[in-house]
Amino acid sequence: MDERSSRILAIETSCDETAAAVIEDGRRIMSNVIASQTNLHAQYGGVFPEVASRKHVEVIYAVVDKAMRSAYLGYDDLDAVAVTRGPGLVGSLLVGVNAAKGIAVARNAPILAMNHIEGHIYSLWLTEAAPEIEFPVMTLVVSGGHTDLYLMTDHLTYQYLGGTLDDAAGEAFDKVGRLLGLPYPGGPAIDAAARNGNPHRFKFPRAIMDDEYDFSFSGLKTAVMRAVKGYHPDLLPVNDMAAAFQEAVVDALVTKSYRAAEAHNVRAMHVVGGVSANSALRAEMTKRFGVVPVRFPPLALCTDNAAMIGAVAHQYFIRDYRDPINFDVIPNLQIA
Ligand code: KG4
Ligand code: ZN
Repeated sequence: MDERSSRILAIETSCDETAAAVIEDGRRIMSNVIASQTNLHAQYGGVFPEVASRKHVEVIYAVVDKAMRSAYLGYDDLDAVAVTRGPGLVGSLLVGVNAAKGIAVARNAPILAMNHIEGHIYSLWLTEAAPEIEFPVMTLVVSGGHTDLYLMTDHLTYQYLGGTLDDAAGEAFDKVGRLLGLPYPGGPAIDAAARNGNPHRFKFPRAIMDDEYDFSFSGLKTAVMRAVKGYHPDLLPVNDMAAAFQEAVVDALVTKSYRAAEAHNVRAMHVVGGVSANSALRAEMTKRFGVVPVRFPPLALCTDNAAMIGAVAHQYFIRDYRDPINFDVIPNLQIA
């Protein structure tokens, strides 16, 4: 089945990146354009939904046009148009979905309504490792909105094992970043600060519950908040706190992932989503898993992009899956 070829224009606008990409055969990136709104939202300390959707409207046409021109393709060369239908911010999702529908109707092309989380999972098929990927694999999705463990037994086949009971890992990074006075988004800022910090100066809670594959980060966030209150703002040991917080998150993520991977005897561990860019998580996962391969997307494909949406859409396309043109966005879409 995998031999069938496809050229898919993919559009992703679920949060604060306006993205379009052209993907060949679910593997080869012909173009990958991302217009980030991060600087715009930094002044609010987080994504301002109303501002995000308006910005998407302003740039979506230029982003799609650039993706097509960079791929040296005309619309008639496309086999399908794919777009994220959820999960995400409703106003943001609607912009990408309506752009995709417009193109699909105008060009009489099939449309594929994709799940953002499945997109993150398939970001790994855009890497050099793809030909070696054999099932079962354990997948940890760690992003601003999700912290979930899935056992993947075949293409597009997932068993949900557990996830966060409160904050997502990326959300915890962003909130703690704010507590430490670091710029938004907190994840990359904490990653950088932690490099110059001593993780042993503070002992933060791990919340590693027995036998379960669930996560909890709100207690950790509260512990950091309490520690911060013990200092004059000018004297806050930002680097040490960042390092200790990051170590606590990484420890929980790696411990649960390893436990799940071992219990299901998987061939590899996959880590995807924005937080998979974290340098300490990458180092510790690789160390703890030993001979079991641990795979991460290249840094540019960890955070939101449309290439990953094209990668998962290929899997649906070759299985003759199509969506009706009147599909709706689903802000809280799940996968399994
Ligand atoms: O996947 P993503 O771009 O958007 C969602 O689907 O949520 O993930 C964004 C999240 C943010 O919370 C950001 O702080 C986090 O990924 N992030 C990181 C790093 N780079 C991005 N967290 C920790 N370390 C990083 N290097
Ligand atoms: Zn994402």
